[in-house]
This record gives sequence, structure tokens and C-alpha cells, in this order.
Amino acid sequence: MTHPVLAGSPFAGYVYAYPHKTAYRPLPPRPLAGVWAAEPRDRLFLYVHVPFCAMRCGFCNLFTTANPAGSLVPLYLDALRRQAEVTRAALPDARFARLAIGGGTPTYLDERGLEELFGVTDRLTDGGAIPTAVETSPDTLTAGKVDLLAARGVRRVSIGVQSFLDAEVRASGRPQSRAEVDAALGLLRGRFPVLNLDLMYGLPGQTVDSWLHSIRTAAEWGADELYLYPLYVRPLTGLGNSAKRWDDLRVNCYREGRAVLLAEGYEQVSMRMFRRRNPLTPNPSPSRGEGGTIHCCQEDGMVGLGSGARSYTRGLHYSFEYAVAAGGVKAIIADYLTRDLTVADYGFELDADEQRRRYLLQSLLNADGLHESRYTARFGTDPAADFPDLRTFRDLGLVEYNHPRWAPTPLGLERSDALGPWFFSDRVRALTAEYEPR
Ligand SMILES: C[S@@+](CC[C@H](N)C(=O)[O-])C[C@H]1O[C@@H](n2cnc3c(N)ncnc32)[C@H](O)[C@@H]1O
Ligand code: SF4
Repeated sequence: MTHPVLAGSPFAGYVYAYPHKTAYRPLPPRPLAGVWAAEPRDRLFLYVHVPFCAMRCGFCNLFTTANPAGSLVPLYLDALRRQAEVTRAALPDARFARLAIGGGTPTYLDERGLEELFGVTDRLTDGGAIPTAVETSPDTLTAGKVDLLAARGVRRVSIGVQSFLDAEVRASGRPQSRAEVDAALGLLRGRFPVLNLDLMYGLPGQTVDSWLHSIRTAAEWGADELYLYPLYVRPLTGLGNSAKRWDDLRVNCYREGRAVLLAEGYEQVSMRMFRRRNPLTPNPSPSRGEGGTIHCCQEDGMVGLGSGARSYTRGLHYSFEYAVAAGGVKAIIADYLTRDLTVADYGFELDADEQRRRYLLQSLLNADGLHESRYTARFGTDPAADFPDLRTFRDLGLVEYNHPRWAPTPLGLERSDALGPWFFSDRVRALTAEYEPR
């Protein structure tokens, strides 16, 4: 019988963090100082979430709200400031090594708002320049904002393009024009060490050829990194249900898009991420991308600020409640403005088994793979003993073992979204199944 990971849909679920927020639940409140007391605090990752956009794209399942009332933005910045203060007070000796500002769309903020936002992060980073990544969108970017980000020394800018064809983005509920995409890319080109473009496949009306057109256009714009997202439609997002043959289209888009990028001189870092090979550094460690996305961060030790941000210690992941539908998002943002930010009271506790699963998922789904010795140094056990399925997947050609690494094969990378969910614990599966979307 064919193994379920090969027999089922290749698009079972995107595992960008384990566990997903749908497994988080209310917890007895714990003061932040206690939560972080036993954690290393000398190289933390600071993540700031801006839950605002100028539009609500039909496909989007992120925690964000479109066109918030004018008064909400300054109130949100005030709450971020307050959260930064209580975090500083609870972790006075914390040192941050990286900063990412994501969303939503951080550049929904005007220049004054962006200055204020950096004022907030300065309180935690002591104003020091650390590798910083910022997300943006074509409709919110201006020359003034680009200058501001460049003056702040931002290292990586990531812009959501999705498709270079207006008809495709519009059919998926994103009112975007090629002219504004070109204008935004013209502003960004050459201004930052790393320019990332997000593209999506499986959009309504998209074909493999039109998809390859978008990929080639992104490469022509000089993208240093590309994130290729297969479209996922989830409950409560605006696009309705998918067709069966959609899986085949997405697999073909994946394969052909990957082949084009490898031929164009990009290396594959994970199922979604491709990075232009740098002739000066032929073998960068792909899973340790500087200023990269939070998704590829292997080590725990992340402090999140904002109503949609998570924070990670080794044994506790915490945040605030999660929603996708407009009403739920608004209510959670409103609660964030006035709530007690000195405690962690909503999240997920990771026991030793869950910590191992998380480590496995964060490493095995990257081309770099899982280093046995690092795993053993952290957990004192052997990964193949903890996860006998590694051998099963090796026999199926999804992963390979080359001492001292377990790494995905090309087939394994292609099947990342089926392989990942396979390693979820029963507890996480049950919590996620019970979760009622808001
Ligand atoms: C925070 S957004 C990027 C910045 C900005 N908000 C924008 O849209 O231009 C993150 C990315 O997630 C991807 N994304 C959002 N919803 C998705 C979905 N349902 N399926 C696949 N990818 C999705 C899009 O490629 C999007 O650019
Ligand atoms: S895709 Fe980007 S711009 Fe569109 S709703 Fe989602 S976060 Fe906002």
C-alpha cells in the first residue's frame, strides 16, 4: 500500500511553525520574567507584527485587518510601546541579534508611524543596528518610506507580488496593478542587500506558462530571494473551495518553477524558498539566513510584539488569541490595546517530546536538513531512535541520510506539506481539530 504521505494531497498543510496557533489555548497567567528566567537571552530574535493592510486579499489567511479606523493605528503603536517597556522591564539583560517587522503590511504605516515603530524597537535593541527585515506591499510603498528603511539600515525587504499578471491577482481578490508593482520594484531595486519577492501559484486563471512568466520577471527584477507559495484556501478566507485538479496544477507549477530558478542560478533552501547563489559565498548555511523570515529560524528565543505576534521559549510558545475573519481580528486587536501585557496567558507548553518534534520539523523541511550531532547535543538522544519514521521515509525516497545529516531529497522537498504534518503529535492534532475558527 502506498504510504499516506505519498498517496494523499501534497498540500496537506504548510508547517511554518510548530505547533500552529490553532493549538494554542488559555493558560494560567505567568509573569514574563519567570517565563524567560531559565532561557538564554543573549541572542534573541525580535519580531514585531503590524496587523494592518490597505486591502484584504481574497486568499489571505493571515492575522490582519484592512483599512483600520484612523484612531486605531496610533493606539496600536502606543500598545506596542507599552509592550516593549514591560518586556524590557521583565528581561532587562536581553540582547537582540535580529529584528523582523512583518504583517499584515508594516508599510501600511505612514513615515511618521514607521519612525515611531523603530522608536519602539530601539527601546529593546538600545538603538543598536542589528540585521533587520521588513515586509511590504506594492500599494503601500513610497519613495519616502524606502528612504526611511534604507536610512535605518534595513537589510532585507520582502514584497508581496503574487503575480505579474493583473488578471490573476485580481481574480484572487487582490486589487493590484502591474504599474504599481513595477513602480515599487523600481524604488526597491539596488537599495537593500536582500530583496525578496513573494509569488503565488494555484491562483484562479493561472497556468504553468503564466506562472513561469511571473518567475522569470521576478528574476529579471534581480530578486535575491524568492518565496513561491502554493495557494492555500482556508475556512473564512474569501475564495471558497478548491477543485480537485488544483493539486496537479500546483505540483506542475512547483516542479517547473523550481527548474527555472535552478537554471537561473538560484539554490533551493526549502520547498518555498529560493536564494540567488552568491559567487563569493558558495555554500551559505541555508537555514540560518540573516534577517530572513521567522519561518526558517531553528533556535528558539523569539520575543514577539503586537497582537498577532508569537513569542518562543524552548518550553513555552505564547501569543494572543488567533482569528482570520474580520470581526475576530478586530476584537483581538481591541483587546490588545488595553490588556495586561506583563504575563503570558495564551499559548502552548512544549514538553520534551514536542520540543523534539519542533526541532525535527524546523530542520528536516530545509535543504540543509537535520544535523544529528546538534540534535543529540540538545536532546541527548538519536533522531532516528526518536523518530523511526525517518528510516521509513528514507526507504520511500523522501529523505536521505548522509552522516551526520538527515536531509530531504528533491521528492521530500516537493512533499514538505505532506511530510511535515505527519510528524505532528496526537495532542497537537486533537487541539487543532477542536479549534473553532473565528
Ligand atoms: C505578509 S504577506 C506579504 C506582504 C504584504 N502583506 C503583501 O501581501 O504584499 C505574506 C505572504 O503570504 C502569502 N500568502 C498569504 N495568504 C496565502 C494563502 N492563502 N496561500 C498561500 N500564500 C499566501 C503571500 O504570498 C503573501 O505575500
Ligand atoms: S496578502 Fe498581504 S496585503 Fe493581502 S491581506 Fe494578506 S497581509 Fe494584507
